[in-house]
Amino acid sequence: MTDAKTNRPLVRLDRISKHFGEGETRVDALRNVSLDVYPGQVVALLGPSGSGKTTLLNVIGCILDPSSGSMELDGEAVIEDGQWLRPNLRRLRLDKIGFIFQFHNLIPFLDATDNVALVLQLAGAEAATARARAVELLDYLEVGHRRSAMPAKLSGGEAQRVAIARALANRPRIILADEPTAALDSKRAGIVMDLLRKVAVEQDAAIIAVTHDEKIFDRFDSIFSLRDGRLEMEERGDDQREPDVFQCSKSVS
Ligand SMILES: Nc1ncnc2c1ncn2[C@@H]1O[C@H](COP(=O)(O)OP(=O)(O)O)[C@@H](O)[C@H]1O
Ligand SMILES: [Mg+2]
Repeated sequence: MTDAKTNRPLVRLDRISKHFGEGETRVDALRNVSLDVYPGQVVALLGPSGSGKTTLLNVIGCILDPSSGSMELDGEAVIEDGQWLRPNLRRLRLDKIGFIFQFHNLIPFLDATDNVALVLQLAGAEAATARARAVELLDYLEVGHRRSAMPAKLSGGEAQRVAIARALANRPRIILADEPTAALDSKRAGIVMDLLRKVAVEQDAAIIAVTHDEKIFDRFDSIFSLRDGRLEMEERGDDQREPDVFQCSKSVS
C-alpha cells in the first residue's frame, strides 16, 4: 500500500532531548533525537547499557516527559517544545501504544485469556467481548491452545506471545518492545520476531524494538544505535540517511 495514510509516519520525533538531574549530577539521556517510523516498519534500537534506549521508548510511549523537542504519534501532535498537548496521557497510551517488555510481566493469578482480556476491560470493553477478542488474539499469535493456562505453566516463548497478544489488545498502531527476545532461545526469538513482523504488515503498525540479539537483525527494516543519547543509523548499504532526521522509508513491493 502506498496511499497517503501509509506515507505518513506513525512516530515522528523532532529533536527530542531528555536530561535527568541538574548541575553536577545532570545526565543527558537523549540529545536531539529525530526519527520517523512508518506503518509496516520494524525498527531495531541498539546501543550500550545507559545509552538512552529505555528512555527513548518511554518518551515515545508517553510515560516520560522529554525536556525539549516535539513528537507526533499517528499524525497527532502530542508534544510540542517539550510540553504535552493532551491532558489524558493514560487514554493516549491505551489508544495508540502497545508495550512489550523483556520479561512478560503477566499477572500471575490470571490465566492467559484474562491477562489479555483485562487490558480490553480497562479500555471499556464488556467482559464477554473482552474474552472473545482475547481468544482471537491468542489464536492469531499461535498460542490459543494455551488460553486457559496460568502464566507459571507457560514456556518462555508462550508467555512472551501472550504478552504480545496483550500489547495488541487495543489495536495500537505503535508497538514498543524493550528486549522482547532477550529471555528466549534463538528459535523462539525468531518466532516472536516473525510474529511482530506479521503484526506490522497486517495491521499497518510500527514496531520499535530494543535488542542486542544479532541473530534476529535480519528481521528488521532499519537498525539505529544510540550512543550517549545520540541516535545514529547503522550502515547497511542504505541510502536513506539524511543530515539530521533519519527516515525509515517504507519499502514498497
Ligand atoms: N529516572 C532516572 N533518573 C536519573 N537518571 C536516569 C533515569 N533513568 C535513566 N537515567 C539515566 O539515563 C541514561 C540512559 O538510561 P536508559 O535509557 O535506561 O539506558 P539504556 O536503556 O540504553 O540502558 C543512563 O545514564 C541512566 O542512568
Ligand atoms: Mg534499558
